[in-house]
Amino acid sequence: MSKNNQNKLIIFDTTLRDGEQSPGASMTRDEKVRIAKALEKMRVDVIEAGFPIASLGDFESVQAVASAIKDSTVCGLARALEKDIARAGEALKPAESSRIHTFIATSPIHMEMKLRMQPDQVLEQAVRAVKQARGLTDNVEFSPEDAGRSELDFLCRIIEAVIDAGATTINIPDTVGYNIPHQFGELIRNLIERIPNSDKAIFSVHCHNDLGLAVGNSLAAVLNGARQVECTINGLGERAGNASLEEIVMAVRTRQDIFPCDTTLDTTQIMACSRLVSSITGFPVQPNKAIVGANAFAHESGIHQDGVLKSRETYEIMRAQDVGWAANRMVMGKHSGRNAFKTRMKELNIDFASEQELNETFSRFKDLADKKHEIFDEDLQALVAETTWSAENEHFKLVSLKVCSETGETPNASLVLNIGDKEVVARSDGSGPVDAVFRAVESVVNSETELQLYSVNAITSGTDAQGEVTVRLEKAGRIVSGQGADTDIVIASAKAYLNALNKLSRSGDREHPQLGDV
Ligand code: KIV
Ligand code: ZN
Repeated sequence: MSKNNQNKLIIFDTTLRDGEQSPGASMTRDEKVRIAKALEKMRVDVIEAGFPIASLGDFESVQAVASAIKDSTVCGLARALEKDIARAGEALKPAESSRIHTFIATSPIHMEMKLRMQPDQVLEQAVRAVKQARGLTDNVEFSPEDAGRSELDFLCRIIEAVIDAGATTINIPDTVGYNIPHQFGELIRNLIERIPNSDKAIFSVHCHNDLGLAVGNSLAAVLNGARQVECTINGLGERAGNASLEEIVMAVRTRQDIFPCDTTLDTTQIMACSRLVSSITGFPVQPNKAIVGANAFAHESGIHQDGVLKSRETYEIMRAQDVGWAANRMVMGKHSGRNAFKTRMKELNIDFASEQELNETFSRFKDLADKKHEIFDEDLQALVAETTWSAENEHFKLVSLKVCSETGETPNASLVLNIGDKEVVARSDGSGPVDAVFRAVESVVNSETELQLYSVNAITSGTDAQGEVTVRLEKAGRIVSGQGADTDIVIASAKAYLNALNKLSRSGDREHPQLGDV
């Protein structure tokens, strides 16, 4: 058994690193700090803040998270390379508690085709990397990438060697989401039983969801001795995503009759984190998603409603409020004052960097309250998200917009935009009002992008709800998501399109940790 307290399941959140590797989910430094603070409030044990060597922006984001977070350990990813580990160590310097997570691939296909290295060379490089990382922090995690397709004997050999070299956590990734729960659980049990010094490290798992089994595999691993799970909010992540944090945490909490351990998370923060990540990344949560989907606790059918009214346990295995679904979410209206606004924002874990930022957001709240009778928590969260979407130094800015849409006529749009310091007028027809707006923007911007996704979500219920629009644009392999919110969905669409163009106009070159060569 491992050296960890056997009753505690460590939650390692990688939303800011693996989650961000989803095409179009990139986040700014300030957005990452906001998410990290929400994770800290939820009492996540370890926050993987990024891959510092990827770019200057990534380095600064990890550094900013390391400075802002006091109660969780902040982790930086590094390939098993000297320059990566040095950069991670540098970025993590301000952290109260830091961890370096280093990795190298161990499956035959990765070693041969990607690394072009022999197993013994891989082992030597892993040991060297762990020793270097131990010189910078005493909290070092090692991952044999693609462990789920690696040979057991080699895995045992390399893990024993890195534990001897000082690794304190051994993370077993199912990098390509290939494993099946009973077999993955057995792999973890075998590793812990066969590796002579396995008691000197905590065993962790990191599962991808290509076969929809990331949570199942992670839970099977926990039943077989793993005491750390790597996961993301809303299951965000490469391809089909990572194991979803909320599902793992609630499965373990709900089935304490089966699991020999539990997390120390404050699960009432789950919904707030889910909404924050969704609104920052523009990745909506599907309504039937477990725990955080809009229908997760809705009882549509008459039979279910009758049962729940007689006794909640007939159809509910968890309480909605335990994961942060509030019973009464109507909070404010046009008569609410600045103090009430500030207090509610604080309750929602939203801090303002300055009085000026508070005043600006309050004035936007008043504008919204003039258009919309009841302001819900989701509206307040969208107001703040919009401050980050329309962040400093916007190159493209909407000044005004007029759209004509009439039965039997071709819709057309006229816009006034600021492009840099110039004011520009743009007009176009379109097959609908949104199409006309996007065409008008393109007539003056000529971005050569391809629209990959356009979606509108009502932030709350009612026809006066704000629409939150997500636009995903692709240019030369680079994908960005833009967001905009407004009670007028055509204006929200224009804001979202310009937000995506602004993201594209910022430099975006960064290395992908798992595609770079070693
Ligand atoms: O999926 C994976 O293997 C990873 C590693 C870097 C841990 O993300
Ligand atoms: Zn991964």
